[in-house]
Amino acid sequence: MTFDLVISGGTVATAADVVRADVGITDGRIVAIAERLSGGARSIDASGRLVLPGGIDAHCHLDQPQAPGLAANGAVMADGFRTGSISAAFGGTTTIVPFCVQHRGQSVTAAVEDYHRRATGEAVIDYAFHLIISDPTPAVLGQELPALIRRGHTSLKVYMTYDAMVLSDRQILDVFAVAREERAIVMIHAENHEIIAWLADRLEAQGRTEPRAHATSRPLPVEREATHRAVTLAEIAGVPLVVVHISGGDPLDEVRRARSRGLTVIAETCPQYLLLTEGDLDAPDMEGAKVMCSPPPRDTAAQSALWRGIEDGTVDIVNSDHAPYRFDRDGKLRAGARAPFRKVANGIPGLETRLPLLFSEGVVKGRIDLQRFVALSSTNNARLYGLHPRKGTIAIGADADIAIWDPEKRVTIRNDILHHNVDYTPFEGMEVQGWPEIVVSRGDVVVADGALQAAAGRGRFMTQAVSSAWAGERGGKPWI
Ligand code: URP
Ligand code: ZN
Ligand code: ZN
Repeated sequence: MTFDLVISGGTVATAADVVRADVGITDGRIVAIAERLSGGARSIDASGRLVLPGGIDAHCHLDQPQAPGLAANGAVMADGFRTGSISAAFGGTTTIVPFCVQHRGQSVTAAVEDYHRRATGEAVIDYAFHLIISDPTPAVLGQELPALIRRGHTSLKVYMTYDAMVLSDRQILDVFAVAREERAIVMIHAENHEIIAWLADRLEAQGRTEPRAHATSRPLPVEREATHRAVTLAEIAGVPLVVVHISGGDPLDEVRRARSRGLTVIAETCPQYLLLTEGDLDAPDMEGAKVMCSPPPRDTAAQSALWRGIEDGTVDIVNSDHAPYRFDRDGKLRAGARAPFRKVANGIPGLETRLPLLFSEGVVKGRIDLQRFVALSSTNNARLYGLHPRKGTIAIGADADIAIWDPEKRVTIRNDILHHNVDYTPFEGMEVQGWPEIVVSRGDVVVADGALQAAAGRGRFMTQAVSSAWAGERGGKPWI
């Protein structure tokens, strides 16, 4: 048998196994896994290396048009599909799922068409879109969403905060009801909008406008309450729910409690909550704005609680929540060099650093094994968002999306080694062990020798199947 490409001599890890094997690839797919393979038109010697499924980053924001009033305050995202996907690939990720946002008054179908225009010809790796619903009108609920879900947009996100995005409980139930009918999976941004506004008003009245006040206005109970309410709404509607960017132990406990009641609740966290703290918002000269995201990073106790959640299986997925705003007048500081926290764009970059940070802090430090690393960073996202078994594993018939890692390589993260278009990284100066050296997407080498090897535009849009969270009707029964 001959192959287009053989990756030989490496240690292959999936979410289930770690084995010494060669991988044969033809026409962009994995066609053989065996102890020894020969006959590759091209071969890669992976001796001493780990051969892992390419990462899937299922929470990233790219080229997202901003609505006035979204905390971003008109700031422009620095990464579109080109630089975002290139940066992702250099970090060992081979699939991205960013967000197509429906702004108020806009048709969701029009938003999807616009987002396709933004992506086409740009991405270097494959991609799908989640749909953010900010205006669930009768036409959206009755016609547009059912049609889009049937066309393969099977994941939605709704917000419980941000002036331009927040939905009432009733509106969330309306979206959940459509998700139940059409078997879509809903992600929720769980923070209590009213409490945040009340606290922010009081902080402002006290003259507290510095970056740290951002975190003070969004304390952990705000997230805990919203998480509890979100899972209650999901219970009433009978849908599985993904609680995204969980920042500490309290909301994670809400997930545990919901699961103990038989609900299907999926938990996501991000490297910033494992590695940064609220104290980082105190950096001088407004530099604290560089780590301003929502929910905010918490404290070391929250970090430990999240690691416990990763270790005990409560956390299912780790994504970046890459929200690429530069530290300048187009991005974070659009409202001025001393902008009050309410006028600083929320979000931090992290597409390229997600996997090296999780590998180093998780696998190298002995908190998780390799299989769990693969599950958290790739396979679980593929299953949850309807991309499995095509993506997220190394198996016969799967797309040949593979990252070859040097598990010993030590790298100090500096913004000038990254490939995003953001002028900083919140992880500047952190040393990691383990780095993806060669990245293969559908059989094409896209990153090798520290350089991009493929053309932007080769990435393909993928429709999504029904989420694994719906298997066996795990949403439960609706209340009525
Ligand atoms: O601060 C954040 N997380 N910005 C990105 C948007 C979101 O809510 O995920
Ligand atoms: Zn969010
Ligand atoms: Zn996000």
